Amino acid sequence: MGLKITKQTRTVLQPCQAQYDAKHAESFVMIVFGGAGDLSCKKLLPALYQLFKSGLIKNFAIIATGRTRRTNVEYHKLIKGALKKQLKKEFCRSIWKKFTANLFYESCDISEEATYITLEGLIVKYAQINNTNDIIYYVAVPPKLISDVVAGLGANAMRWISQSDKTGRHESVEHDENATWNRKIVLEKPFGTDQKSAISLNQNLLKVFAEKDIYRIDHYLGKETVQNILFFRFANSIFEPIWNNNYIDHIQITVAEDIGIEGRGQFYEGVGVIRDIVQNHILQLMAMIAMEAPAGLDADLVRNERVKVFQAVRAFKKSDLDNNIVVAQYDKYCKEKNIAPNSKVPTYFAGKFYIDNWRWSDVPFYVRTGKRLIKKETKIVIQFKNPPLKLWGKTCSLKQPNSLTIFIQPQESIAIQFCVKQPGTLNSSHLVNMDFEYGKFFDLAKLLPAYERLLLDCMKGDQTLFAREDGTEIMWHIVDPIIDALNAKKKIASYKPGSWGPKVADELIERDGIKWINED
Ligand code: BG6
Repeated sequence: MGLKITKQTRTVLQPCQAQYDAKHAESFVMIVFGGAGDLSCKKLLPALYQLFKSGLIKNFAIIATGRTRRTNVEYHKLIKGALKKQLKKEFCRSIWKKFTANLFYESCDISEEATYITLEGLIVKYAQINNTNDIIYYVAVPPKLISDVVAGLGANAMRWISQSDKTGRHESVEHDENATWNRKIVLEKPFGTDQKSAISLNQNLLKVFAEKDIYRIDHYLGKETVQNILFFRFANSIFEPIWNNNYIDHIQITVAEDIGIEGRGQFYEGVGVIRDIVQNHILQLMAMIAMEAPAGLDADLVRNERVKVFQAVRAFKKSDLDNNIVVAQYDKYCKEKNIAPNSKVPTYFAGKFYIDNWRWSDVPFYVRTGKRLIKKETKIVIQFKNPPLKLWGKTCSLKQPNSLTIFIQPQESIAIQFCVKQPGTLNSSHLVNMDFEYGKFFDLAKLLPAYERLLLDCMKGDQTLFAREDGTEIMWHIVDPIIDALNAKKKIASYKPGSWGPKVADELIERDGIKWINED
């Protein structure tokens, strides 16, 4: 009897129709501390302008503050310059004009109590004009000044916390008997300068705000390709069974930048690469790769799983550091503006971490990051183990095992590398790639940039993509011993701008018989 072949009807699945819910994001009063700083000019204000342009925010007032005396017009000029540089032809004069009707500048000293009284007056005024009770304090000042802002808000909070049930809804009797204000605070990274300062900052913040109103920003979590890691891992059934130490040999995380410190010498001298990138962006990427599936997508369910990863990261003993950590500084860093001539601040970091839990036991996580490297590229390579038996070992010398690479930026894609038979009479294998490129499936222009996504989430009250109190403290616990040990060193290695970093970083990984995977 012949086999009957029936034509399969292909079910064409529709994409999930869940829409990003932008309601509640429309009206607010935002106070920006550090409103004329680098971050505000390059990231925050451009993101707010774009949200306004896309119609995602309406009825709002942004009050940018800074020490320098400026009129509104002068401040607008400053931001316009930054925006035009970024957006080039996309800058729209008529939208900018409407945007500036909601953008104000207030020169003030954040260490003075009077500042907070003035700002409170402005909040009440613009809240009434915009018919809103949603207030956002955005703290974009250098780490050492954050505590001044928190203290200032705390002292002034006595005026607006007449009744506080510690759920974050503070009732103000001073301004309006019936008004219930929703006050949130957004803090830029690094959150503190070590674990001790982060704990103290958290304690002070929690005297003024409830945890549910504190948004500790890490813009890497707002990147579309970083959010996708959870979907890639948990919306498919084929990857999770092999996503563990039975199949994975090691993981490589690279956050390479081709730019230097771009005139941010003063800021950078206070942080260096570990506080700037490792303590936050790299550890968050590690958590997204390593975490268990959350029980749901509620903010705390997701954040619990990320925190569990940080809790399991193996602490470095002093004696381990030399073998597992490399730092370096690019040539001529010390010649840049606002840099100490004998600065030892590292601009490059490479390290080998372990996550001591059931899934990741004995799987090394090699991470590296640096400024002025050969190119800008953030990627995560999952390197699988070799097949148990080299069936073709005699005829083919190719030994490379499978790998899966998640390219976070700038070319957003995912690639799986596997062996196929090299056509011909020999039993030899050939490595090929299977690629998914965002640009081929989605309109890249429609990907919401990280800052826009995070601002909307904050306005909506969704903390999933923000760091939690316990998370920030444990992240410092991981890096503090590294920073302490490096501070004690008298010298720092150097590397050539435009390279992949110092030779010692290659040696770190090569000691384990592995190489950094570079596509160039
Ligand atoms: C910031 C750092 O958090 O991230 C900068 O302070 C760095 O030093 C930047 O350049 C990198 O972000 P991105 O999104 O360009 O990778």
